[in-house]
Amino acid sequence: MVRAMSRDPSVAAAEGARGRRVPFGGQDVDEAEKAGLVGAIFATVAPRYDLMNDLMSGGIHRLWKRQMVDRLGAPLPARVLDLAGGTGDIALRVLDRAQASEDCTVIVCDINPAMLEVGRDRAWDRGWIRRPAWLCADGESLPLADSSFEACTIAFGIRNFTHIDRALAEIARVLRPGGRFLCLEFTPEISAPLRPAYDLFSHHVIPAIGEAVVGDGDAYRYLVESIRRFPDPDRFAAMIGAAGFAGIRVRRLAGGIAALHTAWRT
Ligand SMILES: C[S@@+](CC[C@H](N)C(=O)[O-])C[C@H]1O[C@@H](n2cnc3c(N)ncnc32)[C@H](O)[C@@H]1O
Repeated sequence: MVRAMSRDPSVAAAEGARGRRVPFGGQDVDEAEKAGLVGAIFATVAPRYDLMNDLMSGGIHRLWKRQMVDRLGAPLPARVLDLAGGTGDIALRVLDRAQASEDCTVIVCDINPAMLEVGRDRAWDRGWIRRPAWLCADGESLPLADSSFEACTIAFGIRNFTHIDRALAEIARVLRPGGRFLCLEFTPEISAPLRPAYDLFSHHVIPAIGEAVVGDGDAYRYLVESIRRFPDPDRFAAMIGAAGFAGIRVRRLAGGIAALHTAWRT
C-alpha cells in the first residue's frame, strides 16, 4: 500500500487557529479536528464495515453500487480512481466487470489505512493480487497528476470530508477533460411517506446494530447525523457544477435515501 498523507499538520493547525467550524455528525468541530475524528470512527468499524453495510441496508447498497458501476459504461474507462474507496467495494466491482482485461487500471484512494487493509485482504481472498492499487492519501490533496484519470467514483465518502469543495476541486484536477465523475451518497431529502419509518430506523435501529456488531453505537450515530447535515441533492449538484463539471444528472434512489450524481469534467 502506498502511503501519502499529504495534509501538512502545521497548515491544519494554523487553519484550526482561525477557528472555522465544520459539521461532524450532529455537532460542529474545529476543522483541524474533523479528519482525526472521522479517522477514529472508520478505524473502529473497518473489520466489520462490510457486514454492517449489509445489515443496515438489507443489501440495498449493493444494488445502488451496481447502478453506479453500470454508469461507467462499456468498454470501461482505462483509468478509474475510486476515492474514499475504503474496503474496495466499488473497485472490486469494477474489476469484476473488467475481468482479465488489463486495459482497466483501478486505484483505490482512502485516508484510512485500516479500511484499505481490510480491502486489500478482501481483494486477495478473491484472487485480485496485482489490482487494484491501494493508495493511502487525503482526497483533499491528492498525490496524483493532473488529468490522469478517465473516471472518478466516490461512494458514501464525500460526506465525511472536512472540505467538500476541496475534494471536488481535486477530483476535477485529476480527471482529464471529458472524464466522468460518479458520486453515490446518502441524502437528507427523504420522501414524506418514508420519513417516519426512516427516522425511527436511523435513530434507533442503526445505532443499536452498530452497538451489537461493532461495539460502537456512536460511530453509527455519527453516520445518521452526518447524513442530515449533508447538502440536499440539488445543492450538491450546484457544488459539483461550481467545481468545473457539466452535464450534471441526479438520480434519487429509494425515496431519496441516497442519490447518484453523475457529471463530466469540462
Ligand atoms: C462510508 S466509507 C465508504 C467506503 C466505500 N466507498 C464504500 O462505499 O463502501 C467512507 C470512507 O471515506 C474515507 N474518507 C473520509 N475522509 C477522507 C478523505 N479526506 N480522503 C480520503 N478518504 C476519506 C473514510 O476513511 C472511509 O473509508
